[in-house]
Amino acid sequence: MRETWVVGAASTRFGKLAETGREAATRVALAALDSGGLDPRRIGYTFVANCFGVAERQAHLGPLINTALGIPEVPSCTVESACSSTSAALHEAFVHVAGGFIDAALVVGVERLSHLDTLAATSYFAMGADYPFETHNGATFPGLYATLASAYLKEFGTRPEELGAVAVKNHANAARNPYAHFQKEISMATYLGSPVIASPLRLYDCCPFSDGATALVVAARDSLPRPPSEPLVMRASVRTGAAGDIQDRGTMTGIPATRAAGEKALRLAHIERSQIDFLEVHDCFTIAELMALEDLGFYAPGKAGAATRDGVTAHDGRLPVNPSGGLKAKGHPVSATGAAQVFEIFEQFNGRAGGRQVPKAEIALAHNVGATGSSCSVHIFGRR
Ligand SMILES: CC(C)(COP(=O)(O)OP(=O)(O)OC[C@H]1O[C@@H](n2cnc3c(N)ncnc32)[C@H](O)[C@@H]1OP(=O)(O)O)[C@@H](O)C(=O)NCCC(=O)NCCS
Repeated sequence: MRETWVVGAASTRFGKLAETGREAATRVALAALDSGGLDPRRIGYTFVANCFGVAERQAHLGPLINTALGIPEVPSCTVESACSSTSAALHEAFVHVAGGFIDAALVVGVERLSHLDTLAATSYFAMGADYPFETHNGATFPGLYATLASAYLKEFGTRPEELGAVAVKNHANAARNPYAHFQKEISMATYLGSPVIASPLRLYDCCPFSDGATALVVAARDSLPRPPSEPLVMRASVRTGAAGDIQDRGTMTGIPATRAAGEKALRLAHIERSQIDFLEVHDCFTIAELMALEDLGFYAPGKAGAATRDGVTAHDGRLPVNPSGGLKAKGHPVSATGAAQVFEIFEQFNGRAGGRQVPKAEIALAHNVGATGSSCSVHIFGRR
């Protein structure tokens, strides 16, 4: 395999886009190419992630982005894997580049749903679950993650304050991130006083509906002159799957696809957990961050909440988790989310993370889940 780098990255601020998804996607694609110092004509394939383009009456974005970049002849496709769509697209880019099929690929994730109300957006999102068994019976993602949270709290006796500690931390990080949807801190009292959305999950346990677009440029090291930015060396790119429904997975207190992806990624990257300096993990709901840290093997089952409460995962803690603010507070424009985790690592490695900068980070891990864990990606990045 060829050594493969992420050489360029760019993102919109998450929240509400004034432009169309197509316009935002094109803008970040150009900016990512620019940050990598790569001429668009070097791109061999464009992988787009965009789950809900139909809500804007515009699907099949790849040829439109490529045409705007002046490369209409370059092949493209849309990759869909629910909330893990751009990390799936990044994996495809990695396979093509590391495998020697092309020298460079563009990965673009975009979602724009802010013109829909909460009911409509919730209905769109729920299509990523099992329609006849879950969605048709009234299950939504807040409801499904609340089911997992109920099982977890019962099994481990976790206190609401431990879920709240995830929300307080991620809001504090997002308050230092100019790309974040919510740039305000919250207190534990605000968390505990917020309305219940799907018991036991409160408003501040949930990610918001966000618009946003993020792009990455992936290239083989041997095809490149020296890139203008500090590249991310892709040390592992892993995808795993699991049963579509939570009742078919044998556990409700963790996500088996995360366990499998984490183990395999560490093995492929030849590194120990202790070498990882920080993580961006999938915290669509606060419970998901606790489960991710345990499934990835950083904490024993039921122990991640206490570590979060004790500040270990704060941006200046021993193992920073979601310095970007995570899906919880940076926002979750489904198809841009996986790429946005990598964008955060790119900004961190290039020393541009300002007040949330993790000092001396050499190795970082990104973890992104589709739906309630039927798909998962883990990527590990190192410095050159
Ligand atoms: C939690 C949720 C139900 C709130 O929706 P809502 O009750 O319609 O809230 P609104 O959009 O009317 O916003 C009301 C206020 O709460 C804020 N808000 C909304 N969602 C928020 C969230 N998740 N976290 C913090 N604040 C939030 C809004 O900014 C707004 O604040 P303002 O009054 O200061 O402007 C909605 O954000 C949600 O369903 N999130 C989960 C999305 C999801 O399932 N994603 C897929 C994950 S797998």
